[in-house]
Amino acid sequence: MARVTLRELNKTFADVTAVRSLSLDIDDGEFVTLLGPSGCGKSTTLACIAGLEDPTGGDILFDDKVVNDLSPRNRDIAMVFQDYALYPHMTVYENMAFGLSLRKMPKAEADAAVRRVSEFLGLAKLLDRKPGQLSGGQRQRVALGRAIVRNPAVFLMDEPLSNLDAALRVSTRSEIKQLQQDLGTTTIFVTHDQEEAMVLSDRIAIMHGGVLQQFDAPKVIYNEPINLFVATFIGSPKMNIMTGAVQQTGNGRVILPAGDAIAVPVPDSLPTPASGTLTAGVRPEHVRLSRDGEGLAKGAITLVEPVGAVTYVDVSLGTSHLKTSTDPALDFQPGETVSVDFTPGRTLYFDPESGERVTA
Ligand SMILES: Nc1ncnc2c1ncn2[C@@H]1O[C@H](COP(=O)(O)OP(=O)(O)OP(=O)(O)O)[C@@H](O)[C@H]1O
Ligand SMILES: [Mg+2]
Repeated sequence: MARVTLRELNKTFADVTAVRSLSLDIDDGEFVTLLGPSGCGKSTTLACIAGLEDPTGGDILFDDKVVNDLSPRNRDIAMVFQDYALYPHMTVYENMAFGLSLRKMPKAEADAAVRRVSEFLGLAKLLDRKPGQLSGGQRQRVALGRAIVRNPAVFLMDEPLSNLDAALRVSTRSEIKQLQQDLGTTTIFVTHDQEEAMVLSDRIAIMHGGVLQQFDAPKVIYNEPINLFVATFIGSPKMNIMTGAVQQTGNGRVILPAGDAIAVPVPDSLPTPASGTLTAGVRPEHVRLSRDGEGLAKGAITLVEPVGAVTYVDVSLGTSHLKTSTDPALDFQPGETVSVDFTPGRTLYFDPESGERVTA
């Protein structure tokens, strides 16, 4: 097991800067996810850690040792990719044992490792099959098994679940989390799926355009996003955003989004940006709808989406539409007029020009 440290990592390809001055300290045994939209530099970062790409600048350390000049083979890592990259002509057993024989592990020792891991992953009965005779989920498990038998210091996984169907993604995700808890191996996982990142990670490094935005525990990223990009990238359905001029009233300051029948309260201690405007962000579960309440505004229900445990309800305030998460028992209907209120203390504020969060 190992700590992994990135110091000012840079990677440019001709005219594209894929990773810009990325610094991360990943603890021994930690599960860290690199999260961000397509093209933000996740795979490039992972490839640099693996030694498959040479950084243009900066250092990569395993424990306290700079590994920049070590070949992938000498870095004590194991990778799992989206395309499982199994050898089609080899059996499951041979796929798992192949890397061990390359490393000259004695046959009996390799055999014991393959049998132990395949037992652990529920692959024991499939050892004689070829990849072509397996389901996608089973193939993915073989790819994981091949990484695990190596007993590396670090697992590097690049979108390992994205070829699986929705149900299998969720169950395999749980398996990976359980596995990592049991093995305690430092894991760096890449995904563009924010829910996957939230569920799996001890900490999430969220990237945008090659630049690290925030590196923290999932609940901190969710509740205290550093900027509008992070706030709206994390959470499904997305955080509701309302931007408008800040105006003084008898009861303190409010944000008045143009065209909307709402005045969003601003805490007294919050500074107003120089532009005189603020953006308010409210997660769907913090918008409360009622049929009889007073509330901050009246709105019209435009869409009702039951998902089982909750029902998503869209409310029009004029120009803005708010997505809300409601108790299915309330049984809201399209066309109803409802009062809209926000959970006290759960509105976040951002500078609309810089996107940075504004705090008291
Ligand atoms: N070998 C390469 N040559 C030139 N440009 C590259 C190369 N590899 C990646 N890039 C560019 O670097 C940027 C980051 O790519 P990267 O593959 O790291 O993104 P990603 O975050 O993994 O995206 P995705 O979610 O789509 O896999 C992109 O703009 C990409 O086009
Ligand atoms: Mg990628």
